[in-house]
Amino acid sequence: MAGDRTTTVTGVLGWLDQRMPVVDFWNKHLAQYYAPKNFNIWYYFGSLALVVLVNQIVTGIWLTMHYKPSAVDAFASVELTIMRDVEWGWLLRYMHSTGASFFFIMVYLHMFRALLYGSYQKPRELVWVLGMLIFLAMMAEGFLGYVLPWGQMSFWGAQVIVSLFGAIPAIGPDLVEWIQGDYLPSDATINRFFALHVVALPISLLGLVVLHLGALHEVGSNNPDGVDIKKKKDAKGVPLDGIPFHPYYTVKDTFGVGVFLMVFAFVIFFEPTVGDLFLEYDNFNPADPMVTPAHIKPVWYYTPYYAMLRAVPDKLLGVVVMGAAVMILFLLPWLDKSSVRSIRYRGPITKIALALFTVSFVTLGYLGMQAGSELQKLVAQICTGIYFLFFILMPVYTKMDSVKPVPDRVTMHD
Ligand code: HEM
Repeated sequence: MAGDRTTTVTGVLGWLDQRMPVVDFWNKHLAQYYAPKNFNIWYYFGSLALVVLVNQIVTGIWLTMHYKPSAVDAFASVELTIMRDVEWGWLLRYMHSTGASFFFIMVYLHMFRALLYGSYQKPRELVWVLGMLIFLAMMAEGFLGYVLPWGQMSFWGAQVIVSLFGAIPAIGPDLVEWIQGDYLPSDATINRFFALHVVALPISLLGLVVLHLGALHEVGSNNPDGVDIKKKKDAKGVPLDGIPFHPYYTVKDTFGVGVFLMVFAFVIFFEPTVGDLFLEYDNFNPADPMVTPAHIKPVWYYTPYYAMLRAVPDKLLGVVVMGAAVMILFLLPWLDKSSVRSIRYRGPITKIALALFTVSFVTLGYLGMQAGSELQKLVAQICTGIYFLFFILMPVYTKMDSVKPVPDRVTMHD
């Protein structure tokens, strides 16, 4: 028998709704999902990250139709077949490679918004933790993808990153061989990285994004004031400061997507590699295990962490520091002891700490792209110290810092 819900819709939708709760779903997550009415520009980046994720998957499927995962064919299948022979192949490739960088730009801004407005605080800890799992999956996905064109940086980047596992005591060398399937990055490596890049990680990413949004919709969105809008409701139980996500935020987000697509298209058509920032010059040369590039560096989105790795003289310790720098972010919801969420109502110490952290992170990103002189190493060490102190001292300074009174209702800045 069909479901016993009394649906108000008829026709095909009514038929469908009797068998699957599509109308309930639509209402719960869009038409009757009440989001705070004071979202600002920082709230565009979640939906934009979703747009880029879809772009990566769709262009990725098409690239897979022409790409050949083998040490002999991979480079030519990208640089010759896709870039020169396949109609619009160059566009697919640049939408994907430029898309990867835009994915990280969107997600870094999205994460920074959470830092600004304390969005990771109770009750959104799980949203944050799932976000961090997404971030880890993205980092793995980007790395695996960069190896696939089998250019010089693909090969040497893989060599550097995989060899980091070799620093692990006892099992290190065997682990490196197991990951690569060989003594050095090779045909076997490309094959397995391809499988992980096109199947395993995209599925994980999609699943994690569904959970991320599911967890968010359970507790509701935060906002730039950090005010809990569920505390003030009208007679019908609708938050006074909430507006239905659809149509209000679907329209707002559509505008954001429009602006985003213009910028994205501009970069793709006029400067797809952004110098050698999004795709490095060396990667336009085929992989050659006999010729080490003068300067091996990862793509910009990894450089803050790469700079930390290089700042530590000991290899194993460097790997530990780099890993800890990412993992410590998971603890953020429990390190922040402030009684208020948004930066708007926090005291000067927290503001200075966040500013120092941001400057250090960007500086590390810059330093990770440089050759690494002694002075640069020193600056990287200082910035690494600030990065960690931001988290380690957080329970102390967020507790002792002054706070401003938080309003009962959200504020609007027109
Ligand atoms: C594929 C990547 C991601 C996608 C598609 C995504 C998508 C979204 C969307 C659509 C929202 C609701 C709209 C918004 O608040 O902007 C959201 C909220 C949120 N996301 Fe993500 N997200 C991603 C990655 C991350 C990461 C890496 C983190 C942090 C580690 C994160 C943390 C959060 C938090 C804390 C919220 C709640 C914000 C608030 O209510 O103020 N997300 N995400």
